[in-house]
Amino acid sequence: MTPVQELQDSLGRRIQYLRVSVADACNLRCVYCMPSSQMTFTKFSKLMSPVEIGTIVEAAAAVGTRTVRITGGEPLTRHDISDIASRIASADGIEDVPISTNGIFLKEKADELASAGVTRANVSIDSLKPGVFSEVTHGGDIMRVREGIEAAVEAGIWPVKINTVLMNGVNDGELEELARYALERGYSIRFIEMMPLKSNVQFQPKLFYPAARAKAEIERHFTLTPRQAGKGSGPAVNYSVDGYEGQVGFITPLSGNFCSRCNRVRITSDGRLRMCLFGDDMMDLVGILRSGGGRDDVIAKLREAIQFKPERHYLEVGKTSSETLFAMSQIGG
Ligand code: 5AD
Ligand code: SF4
Repeated sequence: MTPVQELQDSLGRRIQYLRVSVADACNLRCVYCMPSSQMTFTKFSKLMSPVEIGTIVEAAAAVGTRTVRITGGEPLTRHDISDIASRIASADGIEDVPISTNGIFLKEKADELASAGVTRANVSIDSLKPGVFSEVTHGGDIMRVREGIEAAVEAGIWPVKINTVLMNGVNDGELEELARYALERGYSIRFIEMMPLKSNVQFQPKLFYPAARAKAEIERHFTLTPRQAGKGSGPAVNYSVDGYEGQVGFITPLSGNFCSRCNRVRITSDGRLRMCLFGDDMMDLVGILRSGGGRDDVIAKLREAIQFKPERHYLEVGKTSSETLFAMSQIGG
């Protein structure tokens, strides 16, 4: 095979990680993500098909993508999710196919996802208290999520990471318990600062809880040792924890900008390449396929588009920096 020039943006960031949103719909309504009513979702017929996703991933893999995360909305709302996963996993060059899910349907889907080639999972748990979990997610059942994770592990999906969005006055009193829940089972946990979006910007300042406070709280109970963050290692700052296999991480989009180590681009569920979570430039990829183009045309578009990847976002507490991103479910974090 002739060596290809791998995707690299104008600032020298190598892009080896693609996040593919396969659905913008979700069966939950997490308070920081989208409002509990009045959301409209992309029609199924407009979503990328498994074949289209497969071709786009093949194109990305041909220019250096090695990891493709399946995300949403909630990816498990799609009945054809296993077909999607196996097309991604079998694309030449793809080595790692993690999924981000809220875990509600994981119990039923774990076996087929593992057989399709899903390697590992990130699952959102903001509270272990059934009442708080239900309130934050607008009706979610924490026990189903926990059982779903267990089923995934049983099926061979490993490692598991728990994502916890920090919320002042909501879950700041149970950070130790959340960490203990994860670590005692061999999972990792990441505490995430709440990002301001159009859908939450009214109350985001009130709920915002800085990662530094979470770290201080965790350090009262656990001994953390920083892990090396190499170039392209993504946004989380991770720590080893004495006595445990799993790690604790902190994601600080507001208090500590990590855009210079950004290693990723995203694809929306309707097939547009989004170079930055909070940048509004998008390039239609699925349209290329729908108007008769193929893998090589997508590759050409990827090379062109990557030069428009913005240097950074300009988020502040209470101030979002995207006009088009209304709810995180549209693109999956
Ligand atoms: N700020 C931070 N994280 C968010 N997520 C969704 N919305 C936000 C937000 N406003 C995270 C969820 C989930 C992932 C899909 O994105 O925790 O783990
Ligand atoms: Fe659904 Fe995830 Fe948004 Fe919660 S954060 S509403 S689980 S897409």
